[in-house]
Amino acid sequence: MKILEAGFVQGFIRMCNDGWEQGWHERNGGNLTYRVKKEEAEAVKEELRTDGEWHEIGTSIPLLAGEYFLVTGSGKYFRNVILEPEDSLAIVELDEKGEKYRICWGLVNGGKPTSELPSHLMNHEVKMTATGGKHRVIYHAHPTNVIALTFVLPLKDEVFTRELWEMATECPVVFPDGIGVVGWMVPGGRDIAVATSELMKQYDVAIWAHHGMFASGEDFDLTFGLMHTVEKSAEILVKVLSIRPDKLQTILPQNFRDLAVDFKVTLPEKFLYEK
Ligand code: 13P
Ligand code: ZN
Repeated sequence: MKILEAGFVQGFIRMCNDGWEQGWHERNGGNLTYRVKKEEAEAVKEELRTDGEWHEIGTSIPLLAGEYFLVTGSGKYFRNVILEPEDSLAIVELDEKGEKYRICWGLVNGGKPTSELPSHLMNHEVKMTATGGKHRVIYHAHPTNVIALTFVLPLKDEVFTRELWEMATECPVVFPDGIGVVGWMVPGGRDIAVATSELMKQYDVAIWAHHGMFASGEDFDLTFGLMHTVEKSAEILVKVLSIRPDKLQTILPQNFRDLAVDFKVTLPEKFLYEK
């Protein structure tokens, strides 16, 4: 099968374009990675090079040794992915220790995988373990309203989770485990990757203060939908705070507990504090 005709590649390209259309990917902002299934890699094997040079990842992810990932390229623009996917994207293979990668397809005009590869791969390792292999997608975007909130809300998991849950009744159902927050850090390296993957042990969403957001999910629909839900909620909160700083009414802790029963989700009490 031709790589560009494979379902996982088409789904990946569509998600990049959807993110671009949402306005979350100015210039080269954001990146996306997908852990390719064994059978998907097998189906496109003829087009995968095996003579690429090995490069250091910059961190070690032993549980992902030998896995293939479809990734966006560093400095590549999401708006161009749909036009020239073989220029913007790559399939990479990890070595037998999970310390190096090599390019097997894509980036035909040169380049390397996203600078956030350490964060993506460490998140993949944590989420693969936490979900018994179900999660395959890690998505980093620069959504405007979430970033705006990191200037005015305390950078605490409890505060972001609760404030965003309150903005839309469906939110606690979509992200019942809550949201983690990383204070400002230099992007692109191992330190921010470690901090983010620590949070991903508990959450499917992590916010990087004054930068953007990471989301993890089983497939493209669920992961895009998660990013979209959190950002929509943040947009409502920005509007509410802009209209008046104090809410006249809201969803109360007991309302969340009642919702949890009917929707069969567990909502940790640490988010249902009295204000
Ligand atoms: P890349 O172009 O290297 O993927 O970087 C974009 C980005 O959002 C960094 O955080
Ligand atoms: Zn970024």
